[in-house]
Amino acid sequence: MDLGLTGKTALVLGASRGLGAASARQLAAEGAHVIAASRSGAAPADGMETLALDLADPDSVAALIDRLAGQPVDILVNNCGGPAAGPAKGQSRAAWQAAFDAMAAPIFAITDAALPAMIANGWGRVVTIGSSGIVQPIPNLALSNGVRGAVAGWSKTLAAEVAASGVTVNMVLPGRIATDRLAQLDGIKADKTGASLEDVQQASRATIPAGRYGTPEEFGAMVAFLCSQQAAYVTGSMIRVDGGMIRGM
Ligand SMILES: NC(=O)c1ccc[n+]([C@@H]2O[C@H](COP(=O)([O-])OP(=O)(O)OC[C@H]3O[C@@H](n4cnc5c(N)ncnc54)[C@H](OP(=O)(O)O)[C@@H]3O)[C@@H](O)[C@H]2O)c1
Repeated sequence: MDLGLTGKTALVLGASRGLGAASARQLAAEGAHVIAASRSGAAPADGMETLALDLADPDSVAALIDRLAGQPVDILVNNCGGPAAGPAKGQSRAAWQAAFDAMAAPIFAITDAALPAMIANGWGRVVTIGSSGIVQPIPNLALSNGVRGAVAGWSKTLAAEVAASGVTVNMVLPGRIATDRLAQLDGIKADKTGASLEDVQQASRATIPAGRYGTPEEFGAMVAFLCSQQAAYVTGSMIRVDGGMIRGM
């Protein structure tokens, strides 16, 4: 299937590794010109345009917003680093504020800066990477569950505001996809419980009907589809890529 992305420009945030990198590679494979942004500015594939961006640094975000005024994009994939693990009880106000300032506020501002050109063109795609924790909160990931809930509310509200302009706004929710972040979280759990890493991973796989972690490529394929011409009538949705892990409907 030709996704119709040849000639489109896509900005992917958090694109040096993991889910963002896989999304960037898939969009590039479909013919889009991809700008891969991250703190390190590392390229997810040879020859890809890169951009140094720290979502937690307001000056860095402001520089990207300035750039978008002169160099518009057709596709925006919002992604960020995950926050520290920890319970809901006892989280400091500062920790909540820092998580919101790194994971939500910059995404809202960058999307706002990208939207005018998409609306003027009558075509645009905004895809935000979330988490299964939006639908089924993950124990000991309170900051992620809470802030991503806010992002989900924003995404759904925005989708209705711009739908008639040909701009779709969706989220993709990873369950457990094999990336550095997942390896880090499994390591934290192993340290906390005293179990071996292999035992933690085996127990985790046992909760997934598919019986395995997903691959970044499987995740990136869904992001690319939501950016396609074919997905023009899909908006305001949260699509799960989770091997059936989320138990609710
Ligand atoms: N993997 C999963 O199964 C899973 C499940 C649920 C939710 N998620 C969430 O999905 C997102 C992506 O997951 P992942 O597994 O791909 O994570 P990852 O392997 O940790 O990659 C995170 C990416 O974001 C970039 N990044 C981190 N902090 C940034 C910042 N302040 N400004 C700009 N870029 C930043 C990183 O690059 P630099 O270090 O170069 O900046 C990297 O490219 C995370 O928020 C994660 O919590 C993942």
